[in-house]
Amino acid sequence: MMSFFPLSFCLSPLLPVLIFQNMLAEKVEQMMEWSSRRSVIRMNGDKFRRFVKAPPRNYSVMVMFTALQPQRQCSVCRQANEEYQVLANSWRYSSAFSNKLFFTVVDYDEGADVFQQLNMNSAPTFMHFPAKGKPKRADTFDLQRIGFASEQLAKWIADRTDVQIRVFRPPNYSGTIALALLVSLVGGLLYLRRNNLEFIYNKTGWAMAALCVVFAMTSGQMWNHIRGPPYAHKNPQNGQVMSLNGFLYIAQRIP
Ligand SMILES: *[C@@H]1O[C@H](CO)[C@@H](O)[C@H](O)[C@H]1NC(C)=O
Repeated sequence: MMSFFPLSFCLSPLLPVLIFQNMLAEKVEQMMEWSSRRSVIRMNGDKFRRFVKAPPRNYSVMVMFTALQPQRQCSVCRQANEEYQVLANSWRYSSAFSNKLFFTVVDYDEGADVFQQLNMNSAPTFMHFPAKGKPKRADTFDLQRIGFASEQLAKWIADRTDVQIRVFRPPNYSGTIALALLVSLVGGLLYLRRNNLEFIYNKTGWAMAALCVVFAMTSGQMWNHIRGPPYAHKNPQNGQVMSLNGFLYIAQRIP
């Protein structure tokens, strides 16, 4: 028995390293299991702290902070979510897919504590948690300046990690179908009225159409569409959540 003593004495400094390794392997395995089921892993506060924030980690994590519950009225969240899903699927089904990078999401209604912890005051927000060290300033995606198209997100990811993702979009035919429908409608109308095309010279008709266009263009909707939603709104009240211009704003408690 005594002969084992020096050996275990020598090995004892290695024990924490072994435990660390074991923990890491377990975490990587769990993340892989989740991402095999869904390309974007949903996280609540506990999962986020364990798998995204806490060491040991040797993988990068992308996190989308969002509010997808309909009652939050965050329309930008929904659009950003679609782009994020496209990107995550592109990564998940690419031949380069590995355990280097994972895509996750934290919804305000499942992880409000995370929003508070990170001092996050609006949604949607994209963040990168690097494999080593804390996130820096550039690890928060500048959604206001760049927009949230999958291609832009992919560029940013390539910049922050060494992972290149080629965005693959499922084909979208809705625009083509709408155009075909419009053309056939107008064509059909002209065909039905082929013996009586005088209505084309009807001034009142054209005036009405012109007014419709003018009203649509001067409406607030078009203003929003072109200008994009302004951003710098902070509510001094405690912990209030509100939606404005399609974003969700969370006023943090001032300690
Ligand atoms: C991270 O560590 C685990 C466990 O040691 C290993 O299986 C995995 O391949 C590592 N991942 C990377 C990206 O090095």
